Amino acid sequence: MREIAPSPSTDNLTLDPQDWSTIRRLAHQALDEVLDFQSDVRNRPVWREMPANSLALMDEAAPRQGLGSERVVDDMLQHIIPYPTGHAHPRFWGWVCGTGTPIGMVADMVAAGVNASAGTFNDAPSRVEAQLIGWMRDLFDFPSTASGIVTSGASVANLIGLAVGRDALIGESVRTRGLTATKGVPIVYTSNQVHSSVDKAMMLLGLGLENLRKVAVDDNFCLDLQALQNAIDEDRRNGLRPIAIVGNAGTVNTGAIDDLAALAALARREGLWFHVDGAIGALAAMSPDLRARMRGIESADSLAFDFHKWLYVPYEAGCVLIRNGAMHRRSFSVAATYLETPPRGIAAQPDSSYLRGPQLSRGFKALKVWAQIREYGIEHLGRLHDQNVAQIQHLSRLIAAEPRLEQTAPSPLNILCFRYIPETIPPESWDAINGELLMRLQERGIAAPSSTRIHGDFVLRVANTNHRSRFEDFDLLVRETVRIGREIEGEAALKTA
Ligand SMILES: Cc1ncc(COP(=O)(O)O)c(C=O)c1O
Repeated sequence: MREIAPSPSTDNLTLDPQDWSTIRRLAHQALDEVLDFQSDVRNRPVWREMPANSLALMDEAAPRQGLGSERVVDDMLQHIIPYPTGHAHPRFWGWVCGTGTPIGMVADMVAAGVNASAGTFNDAPSRVEAQLIGWMRDLFDFPSTASGIVTSGASVANLIGLAVGRDALIGESVRTRGLTATKGVPIVYTSNQVHSSVDKAMMLLGLGLENLRKVAVDDNFCLDLQALQNAIDEDRRNGLRPIAIVGNAGTVNTGAIDDLAALAALARREGLWFHVDGAIGALAAMSPDLRARMRGIESADSLAFDFHKWLYVPYEAGCVLIRNGAMHRRSFSVAATYLETPPRGIAAQPDSSYLRGPQLSRGFKALKVWAQIREYGIEHLGRLHDQNVAQIQHLSRLIAAEPRLEQTAPSPLNILCFRYIPETIPPESWDAINGELLMRLQERGIAAPSSTRIHGDFVLRVANTNHRSRFEDFDLLVRETVRIGREIEGEAALKTA
């Protein structure tokens, strides 16, 4: 037989280390470092600006020659681990950010370690995700025929829920001919407190921002049912085509929970799809005390929620449930010869996740959620929800007792908005004073609320999805807010003197 000489480029290159002991040592060192970070996080500043030498690293061009694992791990220890957003800290309450957990980190490490791609194949990752979806179906009293998928977060969960709703209401033609085939412009209804991810879904689904009716809310920031009915009636009179209602199980600004049972009934009466954005509040269904507030969620046609918010799992993981599993699959099923499902072997996965969402390849996000629920159980997680709500009520009482602070909206769940009321500065400057106060709280590493506007006023916003917060952390927040508020007032008085 003629000998074939190896070509110069086939010298068995690999990305595996030649010496596994080095990477083993470095991996253990990195693991120890992040565990130290987590166990000691209370003693660190909530957040700090990156120093110049760390920022300079991010300006370097991609190296032509590799730097080696020692150098790369050392860079992570020096320049990455000390400068996160701060979500893990007990006084991080900005936006709606979960804290993360040690078991979630271990699960992510395992998922990356075996380089799992979840949902598509006949393997353990797909079964774990299927089990998790089943647990969520049970939690929210969805029927056994309901389906679901783990997503990157609630933005994509909202997108998927509304995509199925659009297809179900407009019909098969939308898949083949797009929205050009529809008779009457499709309209979606929600409250004016809705999260921007629903705006994005309207744009991405070709429905158009103008066709999202943001209906007025009542004094508790809950969707006004009469205003909603009026909007639907008016649109029908004008020849438009109502297709869906989006209810909020916890609004982003104040945590308001719409009357989901009433919205479900209205949607049924009007023949509309009922989607619930439960990114913030839905998982409070784990608490026997809070569960009643979500009444009606079990009637949703689609339900979006987030594990990386109020289940505290590390980023990223959300979920969407669809009541009618067949409709769900119809929206995302496309034929591809290279993805046929055989009766046996690796690809024998009849319910592949690629038939339930826009992604084909997906990371194994379900593992950290599954691991965390198994480690702690639903009851313990529900008790943490109770604790977070009780802490917000404690904060509300502290604010009521402090003359320089004002709570600016009801706090029905785990979110509270408030502001500093200066003694000596006129109201037209209060927004600027509160903006400065917020930046000082963050920049000094004391606490991290974020901000929003309530009735047009700039306010500080505390969203408590933090399993590390203690009641005394809220005492400290109030004390420091008043101290810094007085400091800013003092500086303003000096300037005008
Ligand atoms: C009510 C609500 N819906 C949706 C989202 C989007 O969620 P995610 O950031 O997980 O995509 C958020 C995020 O804060 C939210 O508060």
